[in-house]
Amino acid sequence: MSAEDTLFQKFGKEIPPGTVLVREGEPGKEMYVIQAGKVRIWKKVRDVEKVLATLGPGEFFGEMSIISNKPRSASATVEETARVLVIDPRTFEAMIRNNSEIAVRMIKKLSERLAEADAQIDTLLLSDPNSRVVNWILQACQARGRALEEGIEIDFQVRELPRELAVGEPAIRYLCHRLEKSGLIELSGDRLLVRDTARLFDYLRFLEAKLKFGDL
Ligand code: CMP
Repeated sequence: MSAEDTLFQKFGKEIPPGTVLVREGEPGKEMYVIQAGKVRIWKKVRDVEKVLATLGPGEFFGEMSIISNKPRSASATVEETARVLVIDPRTFEAMIRNNSEIAVRMIKKLSERLAEADAQIDTLLLSDPNSRVVNWILQACQARGRALEEGIEIDFQVRELPRELAVGEPAIRYLCHRLEKSGLIELSGDRLLVRDTARLFDYLRFLEAKLKFGDL
């Protein structure tokens, strides 16, 4: 039996899609490590669900409450059937104390999460909806783009974006259509290809300048 299976026998649960494992504002008594499936981390901001992240195998959540003894900072909903390890605070502390590799991996993940949160702040500070979408695409290229001969490819699910960017889906589709027509991007299914990120970055600067100077 693999180490993963042994851990699953001891701490594991299989959770169906739609289950809310963690609710914002409630006290937290355990953290979760995802072995399989997907979990959406979200917050309600003025009655709108804002997705902070979608986590997959090897990632964890729910650690903040048990480290700081504060209410849950966000909610977590299972998106695709998940196998999770449910870890109580004592076990968590013992794992960190006894295994420095786990501690180092957690620090790395937490700093990645902070970098993502900083990038989200950057995006939200852009007041123009088109700029927010273009900036999101550029950041996705940098953070998780796949380098191909033709350019940089990212997963791009338009349905996911409006909640993240507070831009309506029709507006995103219209902008993508214009970007595609001008040769800046190519869309096929849930994939988006940016041929030349420097050009797309120039376009973002152009949008920002237009907003600043109008038709001057
Ligand atoms: P906790 O506050 O216990 O419960 C909600 C969890 O969501 C939180 O711990 C983190 O594990 C996770 N979380 C909160 N903010 C983010 C974020 N910006 N990105 C990814 N995960 C987050």
